[in-house]
Amino acid sequence: MSCTIVVGAQWGDEGKGKIIDMLAADAEIIVRYQGGNNAGHTVVVGENEFILHLIPSGVLHKGKTCIIGNGVVVDPEALLKEIEMLRLKGITVDDNLLISEAAHVIFPYHKVIDKRRGAKIGTTGRGIGPCYVDKMARCGIRMTDLVNKDSLKKRLQANLEGSSEFNFEKIYSQYLDYGKKIKKYLANVPVVLHEAIAKKKRILFEGAQGTLLDIDHGTYPYVTSSNSTAGGALTGTGVGPTRIDKVIGVVKAYTTRVGEGPFPTQFNEDLMEKIRSKGKEFGATTGRPRRCGWFDAVIVKHAVIINGLSEIAVTKLDVLDEMEKIKICTGYKYKGKTYKDFPADIDVLTNCDLVYEEHEGWMQDITSVKEYKDLPKNAKAYLERLSELLQVKIGIVSVGSKRRQAFVRGRTSNI
Ligand code: GDP
Ligand code: IMO
Ligand code: MG
Repeated sequence: MSCTIVVGAQWGDEGKGKIIDMLAADAEIIVRYQGGNNAGHTVVVGENEFILHLIPSGVLHKGKTCIIGNGVVVDPEALLKEIEMLRLKGITVDDNLLISEAAHVIFPYHKVIDKRRGAKIGTTGRGIGPCYVDKMARCGIRMTDLVNKDSLKKRLQANLEGSSEFNFEKIYSQYLDYGKKIKKYLANVPVVLHEAIAKKKRILFEGAQGTLLDIDHGTYPYVTSSNSTAGGALTGTGVGPTRIDKVIGVVKAYTTRVGEGPFPTQFNEDLMEKIRSKGKEFGATTGRPRRCGWFDAVIVKHAVIINGLSEIAVTKLDVLDEMEKIKICTGYKYKGKTYKDFPADIDVLTNCDLVYEEHEGWMQDITSVKEYKDLPKNAKAYLERLSELLQVKIGIVSVGSKRRQAFVRGRTSNI
């Protein structure tokens, strides 16, 4: 498989970072295609935990090319901080990080607007939405402008015209300085990827957020401002659809969500507390407690359709180890109608009654299981039922945050 997209199939935080790190061992290039430093992708290597916000999660393997595509919105301050964080841990990106010249740049005014207006949605406050607004309004400033002082001046002046809140000179000189520091990473990403594909290099496209946070296909308006689904991997990098071989959806064995918006299968407080503490469900970017709930097959089936998933990677199965009974939501009931497919109307999601089926738990520690066949019978039955409901095969199962705690279904783990 030369080109594989890895995409979140719920509301983000499914464990994409861990799955990308695992697959990156056999890839040459890893590319982020949308979102920005609203993402927090965790990779655990030995005793070290890395949280990556902008740099692709393949960076912890030596010699991989890491690319930030045009669809990503880049906060230069956050980027340079992340590069420094990696450097302090002995990982340098001098020779293997490329950033698209066409990626849009986050400015201080984007963050201020986001903090002011984002509360209703519960945004991360990183300026993501306002930066995408400027991109669509055709007044955004791109990476290439940071290394062209006339262009930066003209565009920034136009954006700050009439504003007494922001000091043009200060921002201008700060961003020119960022431009000097970032210049060496800038590249014509579509051409780089085109040539890599011609040489049959293996490329991973790393999604941020998740399908239900997608601007078009998620729980609008409680979404992020980009296409976090597989389609975004094409527009966000400059690779055509005929080049993609496989799409892997990452799903948690239950569901979580951070921020506002409908969440039909959300637990009651007792269960929420239990799963949140066992699953360490606190945001990797903002530290906010994540809302937790049962697996919702309606939303994940939606993700199977929207992304054309070839297979799924099920993560955090171990978090359900101590559950006597495990529920799966298979439908919503609202005003006399049963919904088996994801409805666009969020009133349905907010006010529906749920159709659940209940499964026996396995009540045993699975964190050292190394092969699918060694999972307890009830754990296999749960996974097989998910696969049947979703009509997609399970390719990877993860039973802990560490590198070795995951296996490819059907063969011994060699990760
Ligand atoms: P991402 O945004 O999709 O990359 O996911 P996050 O990194 O935000 O959140 C996933 C969290 O679950 C991280 O703390 C991971 O270290 C952890 N994790 C990933 N896979 C597993 C797993 O199989 N079991 C457990 N217990 N934790 C996992
Ligand atoms: P990863 O890549 C989970 C959520 C925010 C908020 C909404 C909009 O780690 O899975 P934004 O700042 O993007 O405008 O916020 O989206 N959100 C995420 N939730 N995981 C993420 O990223 C998220 N990125 C944004 O909490 O509800
Ligand atoms: Mg995350």
